Formats: sequence, C-alpha cells, structure tokens
Amino acid sequence: DPHDFLVMQNLYDAAVRQLTLKFNILNSEFNVLYARNPIHHIDGRVKSQSSIVAKLIKRGLPLSIESARKNINDIAGVRVVCSYIDRVGEMLARQTDVEIVKKQDYIQTPNYNGYRSLHMDIKVPVYLSDRTEYVVAEIQLRTIAMDFWASLEHDIRYKVDKTKLPEGINEEMFECAGKIAEIDRQMQDMYQRIKASDAYNED
Ligand code: GTP
Ligand code: MG
Repeated sequence: DPHDFLVMQNLYDAAVRQLTLKFNILNSEFNVLYARNPIHHIDGRVKSQSSIVAKLIKRGLPLSIESARKNINDIAGVRVVCSYIDRVGEMLARQTDVEIVKKQDYIQTPNYNGYRSLHMDIKVPVYLSDRTEYVVAEIQLRTIAMDFWASLEHDIRYKVDKTKLPEGINEEMFECAGKIAEIDRQMQDMYQRIKASDAYNED
C-alpha cells in the first residue's frame, strides 16, 4: 500500500530530523562552553523505496513494511562529520531516550579496504499524534579526513564491476586510507599542541 509507505517514510524522516537536532544542540553547547564546534556538518537521509526493496531482495527477506522496519537498520541514516575525533557519540549514547542496538567501530578496526567510521545503530522514540513509535536509525561518526576517503571510494566503487578492477586497486585504496589517517592524526596532534600552548586564545 503506497499510503503505508508514506506513513513509514514520515516516521523515519522524523527520526532523522530529531537526531540531527540532538547533534546540533551538542554542537551549539560546545560553542557556548568552549568556543568551538566539534561537528563540521551533518548529513541525514531516508533510504529510498527502491533501495529498501533492493536490500530486502538481496537478503531474501519478505517485501513488506513490517519486514523493512524489522530488518533494515539504515532506513534512517545520519552521518556526523567532525573536525576532530570527538566524543559526540558517547554524548548521544548517554541520552536516556537513545538506546544503542549495535555498535561497529571501524576506527579501531578499519574495514578490509581501509574504511573508517564509528557506526551506531540506535533506537529513538518518535512522538506521533496518537502514539509513540520506536524507530531504528544508523549513525555514522567520522572525521573530515575519513569522510574525504569514504566519499571518493564510494564514487569509485559504485560505478564499477568489482570483479574487473585493475590489479592492485584494493591494496592501493587501503594504502590511501592509511595515509589519510596518518595526516588526520598529525593535524589533530598539531591542534592539541597549539591548544596547550601560549598561542591559544580562549575567546
Ligand atoms: P547494514 O545493515 O547495511 O548497515 O549492514 P552492516 O551493518 O553490515 O554494514 P555497516 O553498518 O558496516 O555499513 C553500512 C554503511 O557504512 C554503508 O551503507 C556505507 O554508508 C558505509 N560503509 C561501510 N563500508 C564502507 C566502505 O567500504 N566504503 C564506503 N565508502 N562506505 C562504507
Ligand atoms: Mg549497519
């Protein structure tokens, strides 16, 4: 039923907006307390109907709204891109209305290709006119550097037949991720050193 799909889409869209607001509030609090913004930008999206259907088919799951709600954790997705590796994930996890369903730390343990991000599948209440619905969403936390690599890798990966990649591409992709991570650490280290020095102005 197309109307049921609209109802579901509205629900997930509300979850994305609510989570985006939570992160924006943390960001502005940091701005007031410490005169800095840990969050560079936030991207939120609701998975399209065709992508939901494709994911269900790929996993051999029933094609229904109930099945999608139960089985797909990233219908609502919020990507939080931080200037520095910060503790905004923990701050969100502390909120009493946020329940962590699954956590995957690809910063500690990068993917086979070097992908880095902290993923949290969470459940949040969405308050509707006559009921409260608990909605699962996927949160991805990463630095600007990790986002730079992931965006380009995504572009490259999704336009190709993976079985026909030129020799050595996967290894090179992994190597690039490592170099970018090294520069990320170096930049963050400089930031910490400057902050601890006399050069730093609080205001
Ligand atoms: P899902 O149910 O699809 O979430 O399966 P999963 O939990 O096994 O996957 P995971 O949460 O680890 O990754 C899902 C999302 O992370 C993808 O939709 C991408 O946005 C991102 N991601 C994971 N691996 C990569 C990668 O190698 N490259 C890029 N660019 N993005 C990745
Ligand atoms: Mg996932």
